[in-house]
Amino acid sequence: MKDFQMTVLDSSNVRFKGQKLLLVDDDSSLLKLLSIRLRHIGLDVLTVESAAEALAAIPVFNPQLVITDLRMDEMNGMALYEQIQQTSPTLPVIIMTAHGTIKEAVEATSLGVFGFITKPINHSELNVEIEKAFKLHAGTASSFLEKKWRKNIIGQSSVMESLLKDLYHVAQSDISVYIQGESGTGKELIAQAIHKASPRKNKPFVAVNCSAIPEELLESELFGHKRGAFSGAIENRKGLFELADGGVLFLDEIGDMSPSFQVKLLRALQEGEVRPVGESQTRPIDVRVVSASHRDLKQMVDEKTFRLDLYYRLNIVTLRLPNLTQRLEDIPLLVNYFIAAGGTKVKKVSNEAMEILLGYEWPGNIRELKNVIDQACAFATTTLIPASLVEKALQKKSLSMPSFNEARKNFERDYLIQVLKLVGGNVSQAARIAKRNRTEFYRLLSRHMLKPASFKEKK
Ligand SMILES: Nc1ncnc2c1ncn2[C@@H]1O[C@H](COP(=O)(O)OP(=O)(O)OP(=O)(O)O)[C@@H](O)[C@H]1O
Ligand SMILES: [Mg+2]
Repeated sequence: MKDFQMTVLDSSNVRFKGQKLLLVDDDSSLLKLLSIRLRHIGLDVLTVESAAEALAAIPVFNPQLVITDLRMDEMNGMALYEQIQQTSPTLPVIIMTAHGTIKEAVEATSLGVFGFITKPINHSELNVEIEKAFKLHAGTASSFLEKKWRKNIIGQSSVMESLLKDLYHVAQSDISVYIQGESGTGKELIAQAIHKASPRKNKPFVAVNCSAIPEELLESELFGHKRGAFSGAIENRKGLFELADGGVLFLDEIGDMSPSFQVKLLRALQEGEVRPVGESQTRPIDVRVVSASHRDLKQMVDEKTFRLDLYYRLNIVTLRLPNLTQRLEDIPLLVNYFIAAGGTKVKKVSNEAMEILLGYEWPGNIRELKNVIDQACAFATTTLIPASLVEKALQKKSLSMPSFNEARKNFERDYLIQVLKLVGGNVSQAARIAKRNRTEFYRLLSRHMLKPASFKEKK
């Protein structure tokens, strides 16, 4: 009781004016005592006795900080924190426990929990934590814990956590990062996160897909051109390097860049300047380069299709993205995220459907998972996606898009059938319509195992 009196006296100089704090503990007497003390230092405190009540209160009360007990029945403090992360990723959470162990504290803070406090509560320590949290929430400090930069990256698997930790670390400097990952693993998302976590975050992020642009255009695209430099260059145009000035240039599918362009890129990076096509003057560039590819660049270097010197320049740090099947525990999170993002009436997938999703191979990784969920949501008639819809989406995807060769074969066969029907199986006439000579036409027919006789009108 003595201690309590002290706190009241201490708090005569109010430190926190009307800041909102949500306090969660299943021990109602502690809740009462603690809230009295916190109100005395000026806080607007709401108390609840369970995590479920806390989740219901957050959207209504809009706290700037949550302090929760760790050990609670039903849902514990960590689970509560994880839920809060889904809906309010920037809301700081401080966890208190009477059973605080170093291990739990480390785990909690590495997951992004803002602070950790052991019971019995030392009040000056708590005040310091609260102050830090408010400062952070006010956006004065952008930090790993604040997690703004990773807001749309879903995943709590240990591979992803350690990748994101590395990412945050390397983002702070200007070193070149190379992102290796198979198709649909989130390379572009990761490149954006490097930008968001870096001191360059308020400058542009410019992405360019090196495989989508023909080589002759890539130079003017990246370096710009002078008016009249080539036919079609009707005005001076800045290249993407210049547009990304002060920010980050993301060179996607760098493995598809031709050897001759690799030389030009290397020179620009080495000199720190670009020369627009048709221009005699060079221009200095201040750009951080992040690159990515689904190919194995090291192997390309061994096969001499990628320059070793460029490889070293781009690849000071490699971030390797795991395939979706290497992070199965993220699938349920991703599924729920894509369901919510879709904005349909669907709320979740059935347990059976989830099992199918967990057992699938995902050659197209997260992009494929997103497509499957989007499709299933589109066809769902209730708030729950049944297994049958997931199965359908998984099959449809492979059936709906034949390969180019398959599509061409189908088209040829359908075309030939139409023509033969039209002329009642007369090959000379059919060949004329198709503008092919008879020999060629017979070859086509045999390729598709079509017999002209079967198109003859039966008399
Ligand atoms: N961790 C993640 N959390 C949420 N969405 C993700 C995650 N990773 C990827 N996505 C989503 O999956 C899709 C594919 O991601 P992205 O385009 O970054 O992959 P990529 O590796 O560049 O793919 P590609 O090889 O096809 O270019 C995007 O819609 C992206 O938003
Ligand atoms: Mg991509």
